Amino acid sequence: MAASLIDQIGQLRTHFIKELQDAANSKDLENLKVKYLGKKGPIQSLMMELKNCTTEERPHFGKLINDLKEELVSHCENSLARLKNQEMVDRFEKEWLDPTLPGRRGPLGREHPVTQMLNHALDILIGMGFSVRLGPDVDTDYYNFGGLNFAKDHPARDMQDTFYLSTKWLLRTHTSNTQVHTMENFSPPIRVVAPGRCFRNETTSARSHVFFHQVEAFYIDKHVTFADLFSTMDEFWSKLLGEKVKTRFRPSYFPFTEPGLEVDVLCTRCKGSGCRICKHTGWLEVCGAGMIHPNVLRKGGIDPEVYSGFAWGMGIERPAILKHQIPDIRYFTQNDMKFLTQFA
Ligand code: PHE
Repeated sequence: MAASLIDQIGQLRTHFIKELQDAANSKDLENLKVKYLGKKGPIQSLMMELKNCTTEERPHFGKLINDLKEELVSHCENSLARLKNQEMVDRFEKEWLDPTLPGRRGPLGREHPVTQMLNHALDILIGMGFSVRLGPDVDTDYYNFGGLNFAKDHPARDMQDTFYLSTKWLLRTHTSNTQVHTMENFSPPIRVVAPGRCFRNETTSARSHVFFHQVEAFYIDKHVTFADLFSTMDEFWSKLLGEKVKTRFRPSYFPFTEPGLEVDVLCTRCKGSGCRICKHTGWLEVCGAGMIHPNVLRKGGIDPEVYSGFAWGMGIERPAILKHQIPDIRYFTQNDMKFLTQFA
């Protein structure tokens, strides 16, 4: 029995080593490991045979079988590591990978030209001491009109001008609604800039759209004068569009200002000779402005005998049109990558 067991151990080792040398890849090796060391493998059968040994022989042969088992396990592990390494080297050679190549860059997003102009305007005004406040896009008649001194029968409230969502709610037609909200919640001194979207039920053309952006700026304090409005606007416009920009101020009327005016910028597209963007006048209207009407201050809980203020509301799309000489406002909302990628 003892001799036969020793023979069997010797033969098993020889067979294993032979098969190990034939193993060509890690899969062969895994199979080999299962074949020899698995539950139904020859090592396990040898273990079973131990019961035929005498009690004196058993520990000795038990150790021999265990040693063989450990030897096979360590052979398998070493070869497996070597083969896996080799397989990796083979793969790199075959697939030819250059780890020094720089990665491929994904396409980078850019800010929309309207967002660029809006942020530029905000940066300038924040630098001049204004703080940003956002008013709601969906608001009531009071904040969009009534609180701004629009008469009940003012044509701007007409269905043709305004998008009504219900009898109570409408889409704001200007950022001036933020004036009313701010006066309700803060007392002077107030120095606020309010950017946002506005909506008007108008026919879309090269220069007007049903939705657009405005930046409202207003300043309320004791002794705020028309001269303050002019000097602030002068500085603002030359910072926004450059020192060489030509502006002109025209008297105008808004129910919420007294007096009111409009700001035109010389059309940079046609340099004043006239084109469809400036309706062939050479000038593009970019901003409404004025001293805040005493009625508006009063409705907002501010005493017009003590305080005064100025306000302006400028469109964002038009200055962007002037800066980049864009022929049609509708380009801004068409999501055409060929257009948008030009504004780095
Ligand atoms: N809200 C006006 C408009 O949309 C602009 C404006 C704002 C005029 C503030 C005067 C003062 O046309």
